[in-house]
Amino acid sequence: MHATDVIARKRNGAELSQEEIEFFIQEYTRGEIPDYQAAAWLMAVYLRGMTDRETHDLTLAMAHSGDVLDLKDVAPLVVDKHSTGGVGDKVSLVVTPLVAACGLPVAKMTGRGLGFSGGTVDKLESIPGYRTDLSKAELKAQLGEIGIVLTGQTADLAPADLKLYALRDATATVESIPLIVSSIMSKKIAAGADAIVLDVKMGNGAFMKTLEDAEDLAKAMVLMGGQIGRRVVALISDMNQPLGWAVGNALEIREAINTLHEGGPADLREHCLVVAAEMLMLSGKATDTNAALTLALETLASGAAWHKFRDMVEAQGGDVHYVDEPERLPKARLVEPVPAPRSGYLVSVDAAEIGKAVVELGGGREKIDDPIDRSVGAIVHYKVGDLVQKGTPLFTIHANDEARLAAACEQVLAAHTFSDTPTHRLPLFYRRIAG
Ligand code: URA
Repeated sequence: MHATDVIARKRNGAELSQEEIEFFIQEYTRGEIPDYQAAAWLMAVYLRGMTDRETHDLTLAMAHSGDVLDLKDVAPLVVDKHSTGGVGDKVSLVVTPLVAACGLPVAKMTGRGLGFSGGTVDKLESIPGYRTDLSKAELKAQLGEIGIVLTGQTADLAPADLKLYALRDATATVESIPLIVSSIMSKKIAAGADAIVLDVKMGNGAFMKTLEDAEDLAKAMVLMGGQIGRRVVALISDMNQPLGWAVGNALEIREAINTLHEGGPADLREHCLVVAAEMLMLSGKATDTNAALTLALETLASGAAWHKFRDMVEAQGGDVHYVDEPERLPKARLVEPVPAPRSGYLVSVDAAEIGKAVVELGGGREKIDDPIDRSVGAIVHYKVGDLVQKGTPLFTIHANDEARLAAACEQVLAAHTFSDTPTHRLPLFYRRIAG
C-alpha cells in the first residue's frame, strides 16, 4: 500500500477501507509517512468528509496507535469530560477537581491550544513545575492515590492523535467532524474512561458555528461511545462569546482558582456546575439533576474542590505557592484597559476574534513548535445583553510588546458590537444528547 494512493483516493471522494485507514495511521505514527503527506491527507478528509464507518475505523486506529489503559485495578469507574474547544474555556480546571472531590475518580488527558481555541495543557503549564507528561504508571499511581489526574497526552497513549492534532492546528484542518470525533474519542478510549460528558461548543468561538453542525458532531460522538461500550452524554453549549472573563493561559488559571474559591464569573460557575452534575449522574453518584447539582454546590462551597485541585498540582510537581497566591503566576508587562467607545447594549462579542488576538499576542501557536507566552491575554468585562456606558473599561489587554498590544486592542474592540435597543442574553446550553 502507498500513502499517495490513500491520499489520492480520499482526494477523489472515495470511501477508504479499514485496511487503508489502519495503514495510514500506523505508518504515520511510526514516522514512515511524513508530515507533508499526512497534511495532504488531512486536507482531503477535511474537504471530502468521512462516512460513519470510516470515522469509526479512524477512531479505533488512532486509539490503538499506542497503549490502551485499563484503570480497573485503581478505579472501578472512571469519568471524564471533554470540550470540543472554545475561547476562555477553563471548565476542565474547575470541573475535574469538583467531581473528584465528590468521590468520582477522574483521569483526563488534555490537549494543547488548537487554532484560536486554548488548551488545558498550555494553561496548566503556567504553573511552574506542573508536569503534563506523566507516564502511564505515574497516571495510574496518582489516580489511585488522590483520585484525579490532568495530564497531557503521553507518547504511548493515542500517539497518532498527538501528532495529528498538532498538524491540524498548523494546516487549517481543525473544523472537520470526522477529525474531531476521532481525535476526542480515540483519546477517551486510550485513557480508559468509562463515562464521558462531552461539552460540544457552538458559535462564533467554536469549531462548530451552527446548532446543526454541533448536533451532528454531538450525535456522532454519542453514537461512537455506544459502539465502544462507553456511557456518553453530550451537552451543546454556547460559544458566541468567551466563557467567563479571562482568555489567555495564566489569566485563565487565575479565574479557575477564583471559581474554585466560589468567586469567578457567574456564567463559568453555572456552566461548571451543570457539567459536573452530568458527570455525577452519568456515573451513578446522583440519581437526578437536583441531587447532582446540590452535591456539586456543596462540594464547591466546602472548599473540597479547591483542595483537590491543590493536591493535584502538588502531585504533578507544580509549585503550590503559585496557586495559593495566584498573583505570582506569570504576569504581562503591559496591562491596558480599553474604554467603551459608546454607550449601548452589547449585541455580540466575537469570541474567535478574541481568541485570535490572544494568539497574536503570543498566547497561542501559529506553528506546531511555536513557543507560547503564558502571561498574555484579554479580560472581557461585559457579556452579551449588558448595558455598557461610554468610557467604562470594556476589556483589558495583557501584553509584552507595544505593537502587539496596539493590534490586540484594535482587534478586540472590533469584536464588540453595540445596539441602542436591549438585546437578549445568550443561553449557556442549547441541547442535551444522550445515547
Ligand atoms: N479537542 C480535541 O481533542 N480534538 C479536536 O479535534 C478538537 C477538540
